[in-house]
Amino acid sequence: MEESIARAAEWLREAHAVVVVTGAGVSAESEIPTFRDSMEALWAEFDPQTLATPEAFEADPETVTKWYDWRRMRCAEAEPNPGHVALARMEREIAKRGGVFTLLTQNVDGLHARAGTHNLVELHGSLRVWRCTVTRKERVPDPEPFPEYPVRTDAGGYLRPGVVWFGESLPERALKVAFGASASCDLFFSVGTSAVVYPAAGFVELAKSAGARCIEVNRDPTPATELVDLALHGKSGEILPRIVDAAFGQSDE
Ligand code: OAD
Repeated sequence: MEESIARAAEWLREAHAVVVVTGAGVSAESEIPTFRDSMEALWAEFDPQTLATPEAFEADPETVTKWYDWRRMRCAEAEPNPGHVALARMEREIAKRGGVFTLLTQNVDGLHARAGTHNLVELHGSLRVWRCTVTRKERVPDPEPFPEYPVRTDAGGYLRPGVVWFGESLPERALKVAFGASASCDLFFSVGTSAVVYPAAGFVELAKSAGARCIEVNRDPTPATELVDLALHGKSGEILPRIVDAAFGQSDE
């Protein structure tokens, strides 16, 4: 592991354009359950894949709204962990050296922004922002649970979470930025994602074919493991700070 950390740190120091894609694993140490890991007792009887669809919302807006409101509260209570913090520092260090840093996340929990990452693309939207099903007007609800489920709007619709559901398309601008950054980076990290959901899973393939060095940081091997130049298996909250410290020195911030 020591040797792999040193190599990753060396590549980071040499990089001019860094892209990081993150999934639920980066937030696991903030006690946000990963998408595919077992859900807590309250929601154990539900398969998240069947709640995260427009059809599920249409059929049972009460349950789906309740589930997303419960997740919204969990995320608001959670704190960024050392993995999020290390990525925010990575951005600052790369920027100091005149480089470009882009963080693409599949997470909707908002923890990267709260840790201080600026150039952030939220591919699957955000739990913080909700919108009316009729007018599509967005709003950031109060930080308390909703008083009713589902939430009716003045326009006669419902309030729905600003996340991308299965069967919906990803925001076009976000995708464009993500593909562009992946195709033009010289160092790519895939962190805490099972690397099975497209298009996010395709970014590492794109970066690799464009000649970037690719690193995976994940608790377990994934389909991306075969593809990357370096795979570090363990917790991202432990591995990322070690890489960033090895590259740029211990943080004095
Ligand atoms: P998953 O739950 O599929 O994968 C989480 C990954 O994180 C797994 O590979 C775990 O091994 C790894 N992991 C768990 N704990 C970790 C830790 N402490 N450090 C590092 N890695 C850890 O989540 P995603 O890949 O994010 O989409 O799933 C992608 C998308 O699938 C989600 O955004 C969601 C779902 O379909 C939508 O809702 C549209």
